[in-house]
Amino acid sequence: MRLGSNGMDEFGFIDRSTSNAEKYTLRQKLFGTEAVQPMWVADMDIATPECVMEGVKERLLHPIVGYEMMHERAYEAQIGWVREHHAFAMKREWLSYSPSVVASIGCAIRALSEEGDEVIVMDPVYPPFYSMVKNNHRHLITHPLQQDSEGIYRLNIDVLRAQITPKTKLLLLCSPHNPIGRVWSRDELTALGTLCLEHQIRIISDEIHSDIVYQPHHHIPIASISQAFLENSVTLLGPGKTFNMAGFSISTVCIASKELRETYEKERSRIHWGDGAALSHVAFEAAYTDGGQWHRRLMEHLNHNLCLIEEWAPDQSVITFHPPEGTYLAWFDCRKMGLGDRELREFFVQKAALGLSPGLSFGKEGSGHMRLNFAVASEKLKEALVKISDSLKGNGYV
Ligand SMILES: Cc1ncc(COP(=O)(O)O)c(C=O)c1O
Repeated sequence: MRLGSNGMDEFGFIDRSTSNAEKYTLRQKLFGTEAVQPMWVADMDIATPECVMEGVKERLLHPIVGYEMMHERAYEAQIGWVREHHAFAMKREWLSYSPSVVASIGCAIRALSEEGDEVIVMDPVYPPFYSMVKNNHRHLITHPLQQDSEGIYRLNIDVLRAQITPKTKLLLLCSPHNPIGRVWSRDELTALGTLCLEHQIRIISDEIHSDIVYQPHHHIPIASISQAFLENSVTLLGPGKTFNMAGFSISTVCIASKELRETYEKERSRIHWGDGAALSHVAFEAAYTDGGQWHRRLMEHLNHNLCLIEEWAPDQSVITFHPPEGTYLAWFDCRKMGLGDRELREFFVQKAALGLSPGLSFGKEGSGHMRLNFAVASEKLKEALVKISDSLKGNGYV
């Protein structure tokens, strides 16, 4: 067990019910009760790295927190991290600050398409992918991801090709993919990128989960595959998932093409979200500069938790589980329980006292599934798994 400067086991249980964590605060609204262990929102119940917290504390020794620029060192730290971890050599001028990856998706959609254009989104996917398209008055083309004979979700290039029309202008890629945990292979990304080039479809690639990947899988930024892909894509990156610091609201947008970058910048200037918050700049720089060791420990912890689920799953005859290749999200296929989506959600809330994300919220293909966030203390995960097994047994499912 490794203790932080405050004496806390960074991977042990931390009570978040008192810090207005969304996961806790919205329990009543979402689940109709506070009596659930919340395992939904994709942040971790794990202490943010000490280097981040110490960096912020040190910054607060200065008596003024005013308008501040993001330091060049901060960008360089992220460039170094991405080069080391994903073999993608970004240039400083390609990068700009954004307060949120979802906000960047919206900004890029508006910049690179017109109202009424079509945008491809895979189903199931992180819900704001749909809402960003709809709220910006573009049309959704929903590409269903389907499981192959081994249970691995695949996109189907032929089906996708047939879905494209002259009005299709953008593809939103989630890489690695939330909620199914796929880490897209080079072949898959190459096929997708080539199809997009053939049809002059720009790619907006949300790579926020890129640092949570399990061996032997490797995240490949689609923009790193070829010069043509680089010129045809917008890559969204951030420390929020990697270092559990979503509350700092800081991320970056990487656009190598001068033409795309200028178009995006025009849209960004209409919103005027500026250069971000002083404390976030410091946190960002500290994470990418000094967070490497912490990240290695995190991955050991997540691997351990994933093993716990893999050991547990085969005994649950009505739940099918394929371990994610990336993300800390377990995607349970509960269709053998034979429940409708509402009843399935109720079952987990009322019988298992767990607040999970219902599969249907990720799109039609998510029906019959539940998503569990396993970035918690191992003891808490074990408790949750026992709650599920006991409630299945207690209700005649085993
Ligand atoms: C795929 C994906 N993109 C973006 C986000 C949120 O990013 P941000 O908080 O920077 O808007 C999440 C959070 O769960 C996510 O899973």
